[in-house]
Order: sequence, then structure tokens, then C-alpha cells
Amino acid sequence: MSEVKSMPEAEEMPEAERMSEAERMSEVKRMSDKRMVPEKVLRQISLTVNGKALTLHVDIRESLLEVLRERLGYTGVKKGCGVGECGACTVLIDGTPIDSCIYLAVWADGKEIRTVEGLAVNGKLSPVQEAFVEEGAIQCGFCTPGLVLSTTAMVENGKEYSREEIKRELSGHFCRCTGYQNILKAAERAVHEAGHRCAHCKHEQEGEKG
Ligand code: FES
Ligand code: FES
Repeated sequence: MSEVKSMPEAEEMPEAERMSEAERMSEVKRMSDKRMVPEKVLRQISLTVNGKALTLHVDIRESLLEVLRERLGYTGVKKGCGVGECGACTVLIDGTPIDSCIYLAVWADGKEIRTVEGLAVNGKLSPVQEAFVEEGAIQCGFCTPGLVLSTTAMVENGKEYSREEIKRELSGHFCRCTGYQNILKAAERAVHEAGHRCAHCKHEQEGEKG
């Protein structure tokens, strides 16, 4: 395994060898991008996060949760249990809700990732977010990003869901505050309103054809 290098403290260096601030920042950025880990465990990946194309080096042992939260600053991705039980870290990967704490960052190469930060458009909440607000489905909010993303996946796949099916789809999410009733109402509202919007669109399209 190649040796892990760390940056020498600036104070320990002779004056002539000290880096300028700009050089130091550039070195910190380089080391931080490489996370000061042996080359052997680094991989370059390319992915999109909320529509933004990114290429970065990740440690092959690093979870997607760590990369999104700690390196890219998407703090809407919450860390709860860290072992795939609570759903707080859910993100959409190519449209499917996945626990990012148990999904390696290297697996995200070539994938399209969406976090809760990507849902609002020009400051306007998405219909699913609106439904959560309208139904009072939020207390501390820790579970909310994951639930909103799983509901968004249901809305976007265009299928009809019964109450029982919605419950099943959301069963991987734990909420310590709300008692789930309002969450379920919000998800049902979002899914059913999306169905009506689609029916309306179809009607309009048919009208245009005729
Ligand atoms: S933090 Fe990922 S499932 Fe709990
Ligand atoms: S609102 Fe607090 S955990 Fe769900």
C-alpha cells in the first residue's frame, strides 16, 4: 500500500519554503479532493447531482452519504442509523429511492442522483413538498427529506397506488415524531393529485389532437 502523506505544518518550514496563501489553498484543495488516502483506494467517478455534472475522486470504502453530505455539502441527506434501517439518508438514484448510507460512492459512477435540495424550482417547493407542508407532516424534519424523495419517486413513476401500497413504499422510513398519519395523508395527497394532473394533461393533449 502506498504511503499516506500529510501536509507539513507551515510553521515548521523555513521562511523561503513556505507556501503563499494561494498555493496553500490550492494544495489543501488537492489533498482534500484526494482525501489524503492511498492512491490505491481512490477511484475517479462522474455523476450528476441535482442536474449538475461532477467528476471527483472517491475512496472505494466511502458511502454515497459521506460524499454527498461531507464533501459536496448536500446536508438534506441525513445520517440516522448508518446501516440501512431508518431511511433518513434516502436519495433518488436514477429515479429509485436508495439508502445512501449503504451505497458505495463508486457505484454512483455514471448515475443521476437527486437529493431534497434538487426538488424546489426557483424557490418554489415541489408539489410533494407542498403536500407535506399542507398536511402538517413535519415535526423535527429529520425524516422528511427521505420521505419526500420516496413519495416523489411514486409520483414520477405515474402508477396508481392504494393506501396500502403507499404504506408499503414508505415502510423503510422511521419517524420518531409524527405518528405517521399525517405523513401518509401527505403522500396520498401528492400521489393522487399527481394522478389528477396527469389525467388533466392527457385530456388537454387529446383535446389538442382533436
Ligand atoms: S442512515 Fe441510512 S438508512 Fe438510516
Ligand atoms: S418529523 Fe421528526 S423524525 Fe420525523
